[in-house]
Amino acid sequence: MSKTKRAISFSGFESWRAHIKDSLIENTDVMFVPTMGALHEGHGDLIRAARKMADANGQAHVVVSIFINPTQFDDPSDFQSYPATPEQDVLLVERAGADAVVFPTVLEMYPQGVPDAADPVGFGALTDSLEGAKRKGHFDGVVAVVRNLMEQVGPRWAFFGEKDWQQLAVIKKLVAHEFEGVTIVPVPTRRELDGLAMSSRNRRLSGSHRARANALYQVLVQVAESTDPIAACPIAAAELESLGFTVEYLSVVNGDSLEPTWVPGKMRVFVAARLGGVRLIDNVACLM
Ligand code: PAF
Repeated sequence: MSKTKRAISFSGFESWRAHIKDSLIENTDVMFVPTMGALHEGHGDLIRAARKMADANGQAHVVVSIFINPTQFDDPSDFQSYPATPEQDVLLVERAGADAVVFPTVLEMYPQGVPDAADPVGFGALTDSLEGAKRKGHFDGVVAVVRNLMEQVGPRWAFFGEKDWQQLAVIKKLVAHEFEGVTIVPVPTRRELDGLAMSSRNRRLSGSHRARANALYQVLVQVAESTDPIAACPIAAAELESLGFTVEYLSVVNGDSLEPTWVPGKMRVFVAARLGGVRLIDNVACLM
């Protein structure tokens, strides 16, 4: 007999709330995994981490949300082409052990209508550097949707991947300011066997680009292990360019503040580069 646990799928928070009320689990702690769908085993790890913690906690409800958030895309064509794979996503969510998967409605997420741009956040380097500098308004959109998701779900714990390290740092700050009692649980990046970080965007890579894409991780490791990581960045960027990548940034910054101030043990290397039109990001910790 299959040991797969059935997650229950809800088309909106209203029906999920009715379900937890009918099931008399309204007061149970919620472990929350927010996503934009097109799920892969990296998301599976987030859900499994939540399941493990829920089981250790005795009684807790693991909820995944799937909502492709328009306000965090700086490029409308990127939003239009973002993969939507709801049937496969529900299967992955079930396999990974969640109790529920909610597809919030646009009205639930944006009751006043989807704005052209979300309200500016202004968390300094956290929102303005690297991804924030390259994708104007991106973190404003992330914060707007995560704030609303947190309000709808009321989690005790929420799980985010370290692949989007800067997003994780922004969300930690949001939660510290606005959601007392919520703990953010970071989950390590899941990688393919050749080192490429799992991402919903990888499926857009052509065969030849996919075969080269792991160079991104290789140069990150080279920089991270170098005795002078800052000096190693331009050399590594040139190596990526020679392999056909267009590098948007390759930088070493403090992983807590996202500022260049060197603090031993805190520095990380961050990269964003396009390969065949597909934008990839990744990051690793510096050894020093
Ligand atoms: O990381 C993601 O999938 C998204 O940015 C998030 C956190 C679900 C907000 O839309």
